[in-house]
Amino acid sequence: MKPISRSCSKTSSTPSVNGAHDTAPTKMPVMKERSHTYRTFLNDLPERVTIVEVGARDGLQNEIKTVSNNVKIELINRFTKAGFEKIEVGSFVSPDWVPQMAGSAEVLAGITHKEGVEYSVLVPNMKGFKAAIAGEFIPEKMVIFGSASEVFSKKNINCSKAESMERFSEVARKTKEYGMQLRGTVSCAFGFYGDKVTLEDVTEVVANFRELDCDDINIADTIGVATPNHVYELLDHLKDEIPVNQLSMHFHDTYGQGIGNICASLQAGITTFDSSVAGLGGCPYAKGATGNVATEDVLYLLHELGIKTGVDLNAVADTGRFILDQIGRKSGSRVGDAIIAKREPTIKSVPAKL
Ligand code: HMG
Ligand code: MG
Repeated sequence: MKPISRSCSKTSSTPSVNGAHDTAPTKMPVMKERSHTYRTFLNDLPERVTIVEVGARDGLQNEIKTVSNNVKIELINRFTKAGFEKIEVGSFVSPDWVPQMAGSAEVLAGITHKEGVEYSVLVPNMKGFKAAIAGEFIPEKMVIFGSASEVFSKKNINCSKAESMERFSEVARKTKEYGMQLRGTVSCAFGFYGDKVTLEDVTEVVANFRELDCDDINIADTIGVATPNHVYELLDHLKDEIPVNQLSMHFHDTYGQGIGNICASLQAGITTFDSSVAGLGGCPYAKGATGNVATEDVLYLLHELGIKTGVDLNAVADTGRFILDQIGRKSGSRVGDAIIAKREPTIKSVPAKL
């Protein structure tokens, strides 16, 4: 973990309590040379970052409008063509709880599987696991999801945190037996969901997932309340528990801090992020929380910082437009909107008829 330098040279006089300056106010300083860019300030940024596109799962699980399996298949195929190396395809959960994910078996079977791309699915228990491996195509990765908040655990998967780990242990054992990768997602890692989540709560779930031999542990801000300060504090706390290269981050953007949180995570050494096309997403059991940080926004940030992702931003913006047209809602991505708006011909103003 790299320390954040908090020192900065004083360039102007200090205002006193009553607002008057102790010394005569100086002019705004002019930077003589631009020897430092933000990139160099954030020194040791990674050359490459991996994006896990979660739009087909997290993005669609909370939509009111039903999306057909064919649309989901087209969406995922577009993600593959755009260059994502990791794509969440769906979840094998109860259709009574999350009806939008009911077709995940058909979707998994219907997509074009590209060699080298990791397609993953969420499974909460052995019933889900068995359904996920029943088809012709077995996903590369299983995702188990446990909460740092006791209240959210009961709300989301109808069992306590301790019970969920018992369920996950068999799923984890079987996943390894089948030679698949295993991801553990820690939900509600920040904030307050009926109970206050502490750093120790998160550490405990991380330690449990490590016991289960998870290849990657994903820290999720389910309700989207974290700020860069919280993120850096948590990652600093976790650094003795787990190598940073086994961690990934999943931010919802409820309070608009997603991009800032990604910067803080990059600074702490994280190189894998979940995001969702057009900022779709949300958990049906996390009321008030909005979508994931938008993939288009994350790609724009990373590419501008000189970090490679292997993903074509323009293709993702088009994919955003495709899925928004299907579900009939506005984009949650400023970057996606900007890219599309730039391409559209300017509307000529028509003189008003008098
Ligand atoms: P339950 O009702 O406690 O389960 O649900 P049960 O074992 O008592 O079984 C009840 C019925 O559900 C039975 O059917 C089971 O067969 C069936 P019946 O006999 O009554 O006809 N059932 C299942 N059906 C299909 N697939 C299954 C399955 N398991 C049982 N896997 C359960 C427990 C976990 C299934 C339920 O609570 C559930 O499905 N919850 C949904 C959780 C979910 O998908 N949440 C959203 C995803 S998590 C998320 O968004 C957060 C994340 O993005 C990160 C972040 O942002 O934090 C990952
Ligand atoms: Mg989520």
